[in-house]
Amino acid sequence: MAELTLTNVAKTYGGKIEVLKDINLDIKTGELVVFVGPSGCGKSTLLRMIAGLEKISSGTFEIDGVVVNDVPPAQRGIAMVFQSYALYPHMTVRDNMAFALKLAKKSKAEIDEAVGNAAKILQLDAYLDRLPKALSGGQRQRVAIGRAIVRDPKVYLFDEPLSNLDAALRVATRIEIAQLKESMPNSTMVYVTHDQVEAMTLADRIVVLANKGIAQVGSPLDLYERPDNEFVAQFIGSPAMNLIPGEIVETGAQTTVKLAGGGVAVSAIATQDSDKGRKVNVGVRPEDFTTVEGTGIVNGTVNFTEALGEVTLVYFKGERDEAPVIAKLLGIHKGLRGTQISLTADPAKVHLFADGVTMRK
Ligand SMILES: Nc1ncnc2c1ncn2[C@@H]1O[C@H](COP(=O)(O)OP(=O)(O)OP(=O)(O)O)[C@@H](O)[C@H]1O
Ligand SMILES: [Mg+2]
Repeated sequence: MAELTLTNVAKTYGGKIEVLKDINLDIKTGELVVFVGPSGCGKSTLLRMIAGLEKISSGTFEIDGVVVNDVPPAQRGIAMVFQSYALYPHMTVRDNMAFALKLAKKSKAEIDEAVGNAAKILQLDAYLDRLPKALSGGQRQRVAIGRAIVRDPKVYLFDEPLSNLDAALRVATRIEIAQLKESMPNSTMVYVTHDQVEAMTLADRIVVLANKGIAQVGSPLDLYERPDNEFVAQFIGSPAMNLIPGEIVETGAQTTVKLAGGGVAVSAIATQDSDKGRKVNVGVRPEDFTTVEGTGIVNGTVNFTEALGEVTLVYFKGERDEAPVIAKLLGIHKGLRGTQISLTADPAKVHLFADGVTMRK
């Protein structure tokens, strides 16, 4: 059991700089929750408050219903894995993993069992007698995770554990972490990352942090399909969702929006008579655009293309200072640059935002 409950948590550094406020979050036993958000939004700060490495300025943090604001880190039953794995260079893998247990004066038999067990889970058996310098980056990070596992914590905290690894190793280690989680269904995990794919694939729920608070909490697909606001809509997904300004011209079970650039968008979001004339932003993900004959949502000259192999990114010149609209079309599309095309999208995939907030009920 390890349920984590944050209630009205705030953090102010040095009594002045407010970094986080109004954080309310309940993380269930066995859940893997991922924190994402722009650099400097307070992800590490929140993680460090959970670990007990940073003081909570106000609000309460409970583990299994017990307030632990003033409980020191070592007594919280929490293990943290950092971006830089900081192994002891002169110690073997075995000794690195055993170190905390030796400090805690555990018996040799207990230590051997815990290390053996962790090595098996992480497939490090063959490396136990090596020094860290004789390991790859991914193997070293696994040893760092092993040091956490041997302590048998109730809660694992990861702060960008894979960001020092190259692309291929990241993928391999990400899959190992997913398997690790499956092998420990009663452990609660909180994981900070900048990597969208890590967030989408590992998380039971994603917490998007922005502007000192939580912008939205939900399952990865929830955030992708039903973002509450423009920030989340543009933060989740790459390239970001296009937001195109317009005005509602027809309301009802479906909504028609006339766009500033001359296009017309139909959204499956229902609106009322009173919404007619409302200024909105139409949101379409690059991957939801399809080409169409006649007037579409976007009608214009292709400014630039990037062929990525499986998909082609197609850029349209923005009106005035607006950001360019980007479409992601399946396959290779040579010779589109400079041509005139129209794009539309399934009404179910057309989002509407008024004052930055979704119009979906
Ligand atoms: N000890 C400190 N004293 C004052 N301000 C701090 C301190 N530690 C962090 N901050 C500030 O708090 C804010 C949040 O920092 P934090 O490290 O939590 O961000 P983050 O979301 O983890 O960013 P990143 O994605 O870059 O790791 C930043 O503006 C940072 O400058
Ligand atoms: Mg950080």
